[in-house]
Amino acid sequence: MDKKVYIETLGCQMNKSDAERMYGMLEHLNYNQTDDPKKADMLIINTCSIRKLSEDKAYSQIGVWGKWKKTRPNLKIIVSGCVAQQAGKEILKRAPYVDLVLGTQRLYELPNLVKQIEEGERIVSTEEIPFEESEIQINRVKSINAWIPIMEGCNNFCSYCIVPYTRGRERSRKPELIFAEVKKALAEGFKEITLLGQNVDSYGKGLGDDPKGFITDEEGKTINLAWLLRKINDFDGKFRIRFVTSYPTDITEEVIDTVVELDKVCEYFHIPMQSGDDYVLKKMNRRYDYETYKKICNNIRNRVQNVTITSDFIAGFPGETEEQFQNTLKAMSELELDYSNTAAYSPREMTVAAKWTDLYIPEDEKTERLARLNEHNRACCLKSNQKYVGKTMEVLVEKFEGVNKRGVSVVTGRTRNNKIVHIPYDKDITGEFINVKITKARTWYLNGEII
Ligand code: SAH
Ligand code: SF4
Ligand code: F3S
Repeated sequence: MDKKVYIETLGCQMNKSDAERMYGMLEHLNYNQTDDPKKADMLIINTCSIRKLSEDKAYSQIGVWGKWKKTRPNLKIIVSGCVAQQAGKEILKRAPYVDLVLGTQRLYELPNLVKQIEEGERIVSTEEIPFEESEIQINRVKSINAWIPIMEGCNNFCSYCIVPYTRGRERSRKPELIFAEVKKALAEGFKEITLLGQNVDSYGKGLGDDPKGFITDEEGKTINLAWLLRKINDFDGKFRIRFVTSYPTDITEEVIDTVVELDKVCEYFHIPMQSGDDYVLKKMNRRYDYETYKKICNNIRNRVQNVTITSDFIAGFPGETEEQFQNTLKAMSELELDYSNTAAYSPREMTVAAKWTDLYIPEDEKTERLARLNEHNRACCLKSNQKYVGKTMEVLVEKFEGVNKRGVSVVTGRTRNNKIVHIPYDKDITGEFINVKITKARTWYLNGEII
């Protein structure tokens, strides 16, 4: 008889992509996807540990499910994702009702491990061992945007960040597997392909035997991110291509060339700066100073028309002074960043900065800085959006929203440079490309009219 599985995913797109892979693998074992955890035979919490808050969320959800198990003893509970990789057997100690702790490094072992837990075993599988990935089924969430991982892991060890410990060392996926996924997504009707990785510019490193080295294709061309973008751009059909995330100093001229030259590659860069202060950047173990970031940003703006550049910032890093914090605010406005993700520093176990307890900024101070950072971000976003009023832009419609509060039927979508646009329209045209005249700028989106 068919069984049901429910996956709750926290964290970033990488986790969402892992969930699509888990649903695909589980379908072969006759577990079908359900959106109702109460009806599931198997519950998976796909966790994130980037900040303490996300980790706490995971443990509280596991606790709730543990209680359910008292009345549903056959229920299987699995913890996957970054907390699973990091905490491993600690989770079984804290939550003895968990059946499987599946680290990010062991994702593809899921089918074998499920068979074992069905026999009553309790397993922790987090070992970092190399695996040969083969083509697997992916049950992609039906939408317009397909997220396709091209590389995973990180070698940068920024002093605040847990990701190198939860996602392991950088590894690139084989081009054939990426192309197969892109082809399938396009055949299924997806209109936008986003190539995903912690540091997409590292794509290609270590594809050969040398862990740092690149390999070449049959024409002698180096297989890297720019190569991948060119190959995917050659696929038939009308669709868009994006890539995230870029480490500032790793962005090559060759990649910028692809954005300038190729019709499908969109004018959008996500380049986390983290801080606008040189001393803080050094303490964060980022390999650039403010001037270097500024040059990279200006170069992209000079070369790519209407480009959107977004960033990430952390407020209240250990030892950050008020003056240093203000350098971040200054950087945001000086570079006219279009949008930034913001967060208060959260100490993470194992990371270098977490050991600087004497330098921690008090919680209320961090909260106050974060609020100012957000206020500044709002102003930057509005200013950025105002640049586009009166312009005509191509929008890929992503959703039919139906009738809004003012009694108008609306569709929403995004421009090539990743701006959200609300457009009055009374039919569901999701997946269509339309030309829109921008009529008004709001903080987080634009209003437009079909022309
Ligand atoms: N690879 C990307 C980002 C990965 S994590 C990069 O190089 O920037 C996503 C964001 O989470 C980071 O950019 C950072 O701003 C934030 N972040 C990471 N660790 C954090 C911590 N300990 N506290 C607060 N924010 C953190
Ligand atoms: Fe974390 Fe830094 Fe790696 Fe980004 S580059 S994932 S912030 S360690
Ligand atoms: Fe979170 Fe892991 Fe992504 S820590 S942000 S789910 S890589």
